[in-house]
Amino acid sequence: MKVCIIGQGYVGLTVSIFASEFFEVVGFDTNEKVVNHLNQGTSHIEGVDSELLKKRIRAGMYRATTQGKDVGESSIVVIAVPTPLTKNRKPDLSFIDSACKTIGQNISNSVLVINESTSFPGTLRNFIKPSVEKYSLTKIEHMYAISPERVDPGRRDFNQKNTPRLYSGLTPEASAKTREFYSKFCDNLVEVSTPEVAEAAKLFENTFRQVNIALVNEFAQIAHSLGLSVYETLDAANTKPYGFMKFTPSAGVGGHCIPVDPTYLAAVAEEHGAPATFIRRANEVNLDMSKYIVNRVAMDNGGSLKGKSILVVGVAYKPNVADVRETAAELVIEHLRSEGAVVSWHDEVVGNWKDESSAPLEGADIAVVVTKHDSVDEKKILNSAPYVFDTTGKVKGAKGL
Ligand SMILES: NC(=O)c1ccc[n+]([C@@H]2O[C@H](COP(=O)([O-])OP(=O)(O)OC[C@H]3O[C@@H](n4cnc5c(N)ncnc54)[C@H](O)[C@@H]3O)[C@@H](O)[C@H]2O)c1
Repeated sequence: MKVCIIGQGYVGLTVSIFASEFFEVVGFDTNEKVVNHLNQGTSHIEGVDSELLKKRIRAGMYRATTQGKDVGESSIVVIAVPTPLTKNRKPDLSFIDSACKTIGQNISNSVLVINESTSFPGTLRNFIKPSVEKYSLTKIEHMYAISPERVDPGRRDFNQKNTPRLYSGLTPEASAKTREFYSKFCDNLVEVSTPEVAEAAKLFENTFRQVNIALVNEFAQIAHSLGLSVYETLDAANTKPYGFMKFTPSAGVGGHCIPVDPTYLAAVAEEHGAPATFIRRANEVNLDMSKYIVNRVAMDNGGSLKGKSILVVGVAYKPNVADVRETAAELVIEHLRSEGAVVSWHDEVVGNWKDESSAPLEGADIAVVVTKHDSVDEKKILNSAPYVFDTTGKVKGAKGL
C-alpha cells in the first residue's frame, strides 16, 4: 500500500520513518533542498536517524519528492504541514490549503486523508474536506480523519510507538481505516467520538502547558520578591503525591506548538463568544519573562547594561534540539540590545542563526543562560563571564530565577 505524507518536517518525516517499515511511503515537500537531502539519506530532524532513512530508501520503502504527480495512486495521504499564526496572530491555514490543493489536483482515486497538523476544532470537517473537494478535478468522495501529532522532538522515552494516539474519522469507515494504518506502528490508539474532540484535545494539551508555564513564571517573580528560592519551593510543593504537577520557570516558551496552539484555541473561543482570558494572559506573562530577566540582570550589574558584552548561552527553544522557532532567546537578545548591551550568543547545536554564528563560550562581561544543552559543560558556562544569570535552574552556582 502506498502512503503519501505531505510535509517532511518534524512531524511528517518522523511518521514517514515509522510508516515506511510497513508501507511504501512517498514524502512530499515543497522545499527542494529538504527533498534532495532526504533522497541522499540525510535526515534534518532530531530523532530521525539518517542510517534508518538510508535503510528505508535502499529497501524501496521511502522516497521524497516535490512533484505533485507522485502523490497520485496513494491509498492514504497524511497532512503534516505548518499551522502558524498570521502577522495579526490569527490561525494561518494557508499551508493546509496548499496541501489540500496537492491532494485535489493529483488524486483521482478515493483515498483516506488524515490530518496530523494542529488546528482548531472544525478544521477537518469545515476546511480540509471542502478545500480538497474545491480543488478536485473529479467528484470523487474521499474519507477524512484526524490524528493529531504528539511527537516531542529530541525526546527518547516517548515516540510514535508508545505515545497514545487520538483519532477520529468523519465516518465510521474512515475511523476504522485510520486505526488500521496507525496500529502497525503505534501501540495505543484512542478513538474519540468526533474529529472536533481530537482537534480540541490537542489544543488543550498544549494550552495546559502554556498556562502552567506562565503560572510558574509568575510564581518565580513572586518567590524572588519574597526572598525565596523558587526551585526549593517547587520541590517542596512537589512532595505532595497528588493534585500537583511540577513545571519549572524559564525565559518563556518556544517552539511552534506552545506559543502558537493556545492562540488557535483562543481564536475559535472568541469567535463563539466564549472567554479565553487565561490563554491571553498566559501568553503575555510568558512573553514578558524576557523583560523581567533583562531587568534582573541590569539590577545586579549597577542598573545599566550599556556597552557590556553579554553572551546568551543556548538559543534553541529547548535543550538538545537545533530548533529556534519562537525561541525565548530572541526576545532576551532584543531586550538586551535595546538596553545598549553588545550581545553575542553561544549555541553549537544551532550553529548559525539570523546570519550570526555561535560565539565562543568565554570572555563576556555577563552570560545569560536561556537553554542548557546536555553537551554544554556547566563549569565552562560558569567560567564564561564573571556574572552568570541562569534561567534554566541547571547551572549551580550561577545567579538565577
Ligand atoms: N514539531 C512538533 O513537535 C509538533 C508536534 C505536534 C504537532 N505539530 C504540528 O504538526 C504540523 C507540522 O509541524 P512540523 O513541526 O512538522 O513543521 P515543520 O516546519 O518541521 O515541517 C513542515 C514541512 O512542511 C513543508 N511544507 C510547507 N508547506 C507545504 C506544502 N504546501 N506541501 C508540502 N510540504 C509543505 C515544509 O517545507 C516543511 O518541510 C504543525 O501543525 C504543528 O503544529 C508539531
